[in-house]
Amino acid sequence: MKARIAGVGSKIPEKIVTNNDLTKTVDTSDEWIKTRTGIAERRVSDEKTATSDLAIAAAQKALASAKISPEEIDLIIVGTTSPDYLFPSIACILQNKLGAKNAAAFDVSAACSGFNYALTVGSNFIENKTYKNVLVVGADTLTKYLDWHDRGTCILFGDGAGAVVLTAADDGSGILASWLKAEGHLGHHLIMPGGGSRDPEEKKGRFITMDGKEVFKFAVRVLEESIAEVLKKANIELKDVNLFIPHQANIRIIDHVAKKMGLPKEKVYVNLQKYGNTSAASIPLALDEALADGKIKNNDIIVLSGFGAGLTCGANVIKWRI
Ligand code: COA
Repeated sequence: MKARIAGVGSKIPEKIVTNNDLTKTVDTSDEWIKTRTGIAERRVSDEKTATSDLAIAAAQKALASAKISPEEIDLIIVGTTSPDYLFPSIACILQNKLGAKNAAAFDVSAACSGFNYALTVGSNFIENKTYKNVLVVGADTLTKYLDWHDRGTCILFGDGAGAVVLTAADDGSGILASWLKAEGHLGHHLIMPGGGSRDPEEKKGRFITMDGKEVFKFAVRVLEESIAEVLKKANIELKDVNLFIPHQANIRIIDHVAKKMGLPKEKVYVNLQKYGNTSAASIPLALDEALADGKIKNNDIIVLSGFGAGLTCGANVIKWRI
């Protein structure tokens, strides 16, 4: 038994912040940001919008595209590091608002790797026959945790949500292999120091703090490693992959790995120019757009791979059938 993606949905906030808008608060330029990251603009949620609001909209679209009712969902897993509250989880907020009255629900904290982690957990519940239908969401509003005067971080992130419905399949399609990893000893390179139990009064600041160069080095290393390892587990050769959907953090990270591994450009999906790094939402948002763009057809082999705070990384190989 495998877990097949039966429906996909995504949601982004309306408001667009361009690189030129950022030049009003930090010493930067549209040219620098585009050359060093590939990002042209990002979406930023307003004060009234919390992460769960985007997550619900994405989840409703995924349920509609899977033609599955909320009552049929057995489990909801949300990958996020910007939950509405420390508790209850976003997954429980979704369970209530969607009317998924038969579902268990919890969040997974793996930052930008959150979707690959949550997808892996969800697919295991299906493979071991505990559940039949699992809703997996990646959602973040990291722009709420940016120091808009720190040009090393505020240029990179945007908000969004993406969701998939996993359902049990025994026709050879679905998630063929998953690979997850953590390197906790590097965690200090990307950290939100304030707001947790070590600093509940947020004296250390409630902002993303990052050593960009160290994260970059980690990212190029593990993006390659995760793709190679997950394909080895699935017993699939690199040349047989139809589409790679990497975490959308920086075009230089993606290009570096694509060149090193010999991945043809047309097989690597990129939409970070429009959204920046939307953290746990980045991969399902890209998946939803790739589908809408007609880049995925039945029986294609798709690799989702990413990295994030923790530091963490993960990948999933899917034989597509919807
Ligand atoms: N605008 C203009 N100049 C900037 C700038 C900005 N937004 N940010 C940094 N600079 C300057 C630096 O001050 C430095 O100037 P100096 O040479 O006079 O000291 C120069 O540009 C080069 O800085 P550097 O930090 O070496 O740039 P970089 O090429 O490493 O790019 C990042 C910085 C953050 C874009 C890049 O390191 C990165 O993307 N890292 C990975 C981050 C990531 O993906 N995080 C999320 C993981 S899920």
